[in-house]
Amino acid sequence: MNSPTITKTHLQPTEIADETFVIHDHTGEGVAPVIVPINSLVIRGAEPIVVDTGYEDNRDRFFDDVFGLVEPEDIRWVFVSHDDVDHTGNVNALMDLAPNATLVINWFMFERMGSTLRVPPHRTRWIGDGESFVAGDRELLAIRPPVYDSPTTRGLFDSKTGVYWGSDSFATPTLAPTTHVDTLDAEFWHDGMAMFHQYVSPWYAMLDDAKYQRSVDRVASLGIAAIAGCHTPAIGSAYVERAIEQIRTFASVTVPAEPGQDVLDQMLAGPAAA
Ligand SMILES: [Fe+2]
Ligand SMILES: [Fe+2]
Repeated sequence: MNSPTITKTHLQPTEIADETFVIHDHTGEGVAPVIVPINSLVIRGAEPIVVDTGYEDNRDRFFDDVFGLVEPEDIRWVFVSHDDVDHTGNVNALMDLAPNATLVINWFMFERMGSTLRVPPHRTRWIGDGESFVAGDRELLAIRPPVYDSPTTRGLFDSKTGVYWGSDSFATPTLAPTTHVDTLDAEFWHDGMAMFHQYVSPWYAMLDDAKYQRSVDRVASLGIAAIAGCHTPAIGSAYVERAIEQIRTFASVTVPAEPGQDVLDQMLAGPAAA
C-alpha cells in the first residue's frame, strides 16, 4: 500500500479505441521495486459502460477521471469482472452516483460479496461466461480469460471496437507508471507477465496444457484489436499477438519467489515507514 506521504503519479485516461478509455491507477510507486497497474475502463458509447471500479483508496481520483468522460446519470452499465477488492472498491459508491446504471455481475459474485455489495438485486443483471448483453450500439460478450484468481471472473469483449478487457489476465509489473506496453522492454514484459500469471493462478503449472491452450484459443478467436486489463498497460494491435503467445507459455517459466518477510522488513524500514 502507498503511504499517504508519497505522491502518486496521475496518468490521464488513455483512449485506446474509439470512445474507449483506460482509467489508470497503480500501487507500489516509491515503496516497491515495481509498480502494479490498477486500471478500469470507460466505454463512452450510446449506453456508456464502466468496467471494474478500482481500489476504494483511489475513489476521488477514480470519480474525477470517470466523470470527466461521462456524466454520472448517463452511465447505463457497470460491469464488474470479479469480486476482488481492486475491481469492486468503488462499485457501491458508483452505483449510488449513477442512478440509471445496471450492475452486471453474476450469481456467484452476488453470493460471494454478500452484504459488502450494497446494490439491490433489481439494479443488477447476471451475465456468466459465454453470455452477452447489448448496450445500445454494441454487443458485449463475457468471456473468461485464460488466467484468473476468482471463479466469478469474466473478461469483456466489445464487438464494436474489438477491445477485450482481460481482468487479471495479461498482468505485468512496470518500472514506472505506464500507459502502453510499447515502452516496456520485451524481456521485462515477458518475464513480468510470467511472474504475475503464476502468482495470480498458482495452479497454472498443474494444467493439462492442451486444455489450457484451448482456453487461450477461445480468447484469441474473438478477433481482438486491443487488450486492456486491470494490471497491464494497454496492449495495442501491434502487441496483441505477442501477448497471446506469451500467455500460452508461462507454465514452463521459472519465476522469482513471492515477496516474503524480508521484503516486509525492508518496507517497514524504508521511506514509507510511519
Ligand atoms: Fe483478482
Ligand atoms: Fe486484480
